[in-house]
Amino acid sequence: MAASEAPSTVALGRSDTEACLRLSDEAGWNQTADDWRLFLGHGRTVGVRSEDGSLVASAAALPYERFGFVSMVLVTAAWRRRGLATELVGRCVETLTSRGLVPVLDATPAGALVYGRQGFEGLFELDRWQGEASTRAPVSDSEVVPAGPGDFETLRALDREANGTDRGFLLENFLARNDVSAFVDADRTGFAIVRRGRRAMQVGPVAAATPKRALALLSAVLGIVKGPVFADIPRRWNGIAEWLSGRGFTRQRSFTRMAYGHSMPFGRPERLFAAAGPEFG
Ligand SMILES: CC(C)(COP(=O)(O)OP(=O)(O)OC[C@H]1O[C@@H](n2cnc3c(N)ncnc32)[C@H](O)[C@@H]1OP(=O)(O)O)[C@@H](O)C(=O)NCCC(=O)NCCS
Repeated sequence: MAASEAPSTVALGRSDTEACLRLSDEAGWNQTADDWRLFLGHGRTVGVRSEDGSLVASAAALPYERFGFVSMVLVTAAWRRRGLATELVGRCVETLTSRGLVPVLDATPAGALVYGRQGFEGLFELDRWQGEASTRAPVSDSEVVPAGPGDFETLRALDREANGTDRGFLLENFLARNDVSAFVDADRTGFAIVRRGRRAMQVGPVAAATPKRALALLSAVLGIVKGPVFADIPRRWNGIAEWLSGRGFTRQRSFTRMAYGHSMPFGRPERLFAAAGPEFG
């Protein structure tokens, strides 16, 4: 079927959370119902339903400032190569550009094949590191401390500096969840968050002034969780890759940060040590 014959796209809402979760589970992804509710409530999520009404494809546009994130591009196996992803990503691009925002995304290798044709350019690579954490004694590094409610504005400002956009609503949402921990440098120059995902604990975002401080923050978050962990680390950080390898972590997959008609990263990439995840950037 050609793209022009594809079934029409529909706007999705919170009542579609379970159907959306089935799509991300089919792909083996880590997003939870809480993540989907953010896209469905705060962003604009579109999908395609089959004749029997079941959801067969999705994509979401999450507006930040200056740019917005396109993610959750999922097409169930039996409906692939019919132009659905192309159509849905086109809708998300329209949603964001009509608000004056640059569409940005983290592409899987399969996704990059779709987006490259649509005008997205590669900005930098990230690697998903996967490992096992075992809860150890509380952090002894006195330069890293648990973040309290009074640290919220600090975390927000550090995240804004690293990513070049205000994501206060996102951090607020993460920090209000069960199974979330946050640490901050004692001198308030960096922070790290870890939260529960569907398949593994997800480390990120992590922003820091130097790789050394980032390692202290990573150490703190990995010391507080147990079981499988994912961390999406920009590839430029060789030392962090080595450190993770030394702890038994392996590279699970790669992502390319891409922007629509835009070739420069936003923010200060030299302060970004882990993304919030490929769905949020
Ligand atoms: C990636 C994915 C969303 C593509 O969905 P889709 O609806 O099949 O994509 P489209 O039909 O719009 O494909 C458009 C073009 O992209 C390229 N493409 C898409 N999938 C491809 C594949 N598996 N291999 C090679 N090229 C591919 C082709 O050029 C295709 O055009 P063509 O069919 O005319 O040759 C789908 O395979 C999927 O859900 N994969 C698992 C989740 C995932 O990786 N999502 C992307 C996250 S960034």
